[in-house]
Amino acid sequence: MTPLFETIRAAAPTISVGMLTANLLRLGEEITVLEQAGVKLVHFDVMDGCFCPMTTIGPPVVKAVKTPLVKDVHLMIAEPLQKLGDYVKAGADIVTVHAEASAHPHRVLQELGAMENANDPGRGLLRGLALNPGTPLAAAEPLLDQVELLLVLAVNPGWGGQKFGAETPRRLEQAKRMIEASGRDVLVCVDGGITRDNIAEVTGLGPDLIVTGSAVFDGKAPADNARFMLEAVAAARSTAN
Ligand code: DX5
Ligand code: ZN
Repeated sequence: MTPLFETIRAAAPTISVGMLTANLLRLGEEITVLEQAGVKLVHFDVMDGCFCPMTTIGPPVVKAVKTPLVKDVHLMIAEPLQKLGDYVKAGADIVTVHAEASAHPHRVLQELGAMENANDPGRGLLRGLALNPGTPLAAAEPLLDQVELLLVLAVNPGWGGQKFGAETPRRLEQAKRMIEASGRDVLVCVDGGITRDNIAEVTGLGPDLIVTGSAVFDGKAPADNARFMLEAVAAARSTAN
């Protein structure tokens, strides 16, 4: 396994903070808040107006962010094959694609597997596969050999601030069982609807990575919110050990 994989595995469970509701005109300052709070990963939600309704950011924004944080790039874009290289060149450390977004997700992941981390080739580039709430977990099973991370969406892709889906605990359990049966070491990530109110409960479901966006960048107290989230996952880590 690569150093990046090992770093996240060792930190698990931990959080990756979504930038969708950050102040994009002050993105650098918003990222500094996360760094100072002790966050290790920043989650970029890339939407193309095709795979999901909204259009957000592209490679130039991923590139413009100068940070020691791990750049976790969630591509909610249709047919990402030809676009992967641009995100990798922009400095993505984790590139997650959707199983539903292309006719040939296996090929997309293979292509990604042949690329190197542009920040530092020795670090490794993590390939993620995301599944929408309506996609059976079994869709990921034949692709597990090609991924280091499986992202279970707890909301439909497209917006921040939605409600955590009631089916998600069962889906996370299924994801973990499927990965265990495969004999592969794959990180499990959960994304969407994770707030101060449910982060302890969500952490208890056993994911390695928890994406939280609007609950941190709520327009009021991002530093406090980030610290709260980190403390919640740290508490779960110490209970587990
Ligand atoms: C959903 C995105 C999520 C979302 C997270 O389309 O993939 O990353 O923005 O935001 P919150 O935490 O607000 O649900
Ligand atoms: Zn996301």
